[in-house]
Amino acid sequence: PVTVYPDQYLASKEVAQRIAELIKKKNEEGKKAILGLATGTTPIYVYKELVRMHKEDGLSFKNVVTFNLDEYYPMNPAAVQSYVTFMNENLFSKVDIDKNNIHIPDGSLPLDDIEEYCRGYEQKINEYGGIDLQILGIGRTGHIGFNEPGSAPNSGTRLVTLNDLTRRDAARDFGGKSNVPMKAITMGIGTIFKAREIILMAWSKHKASIIKKSVEEEVSADVPATFLQLCDNVEFFLDEDAASELT
Ligand code: F6R
Repeated sequence: PVTVYPDQYLASKEVAQRIAELIKKKNEEGKKAILGLATGTTPIYVYKELVRMHKEDGLSFKNVVTFNLDEYYPMNPAAVQSYVTFMNENLFSKVDIDKNNIHIPDGSLPLDDIEEYCRGYEQKINEYGGIDLQILGIGRTGHIGFNEPGSAPNSGTRLVTLNDLTRRDAARDFGGKSNVPMKAITMGIGTIFKAREIILMAWSKHKASIIKKSVEEEVSADVPATFLQLCDNVEFFLDEDAASELT
């Protein structure tokens, strides 16, 4: 299902509310909430709202385990552009999550170690019983995570090459496209599909055309987000601009 909100702030509040409800429900059951998280500009207000709920409403993250979708490669976790830094600044340093429960792909590993590391990342998700709720943004190439065009629907966590458009879109954060890493470690489409619930968010006009393709066009690896049409546990949260090309 696709739900269109007047603006990204209202939509983000609703997504944060869903996350909070999941955390509380799992708490009551004495279980951990396993969240799959995204970075980038799209989820920023979701994280702001979660931080607010932590500070004002007493929402605790003590029983929350997180797996982030991706990280640039190579990337020093301490660098300002790393997704580790992003998550710390936007969420983790502002709530009471146990640092041991945070998982973000490590962009600083030697190339030779990555395959085994990715298998381990996948295995860790499985050991926790899988992801309860996966949050996604979408790139203008149709990528989810960093699963660029050509990604297989059953792909797992792996090292990928970033699309040129993706690197162009990231150029501002890096002070020029040439500084954007060529590669990334990302959960696969298959990894994302195993989540029990998936929420994809998109805001603004510059996502309108890829949202139209993802929702209305044929399922194809040319637009990886179209694979989400095959899941019955996916919800699209859009603002009016991102939904503006839907028929
Ligand atoms: C980030 C991620 C990417 C972004 C996408 C949109 O962890 O997995 O798929 O969600 O590139 O980025 P923004 O939100 O910056 O438009």
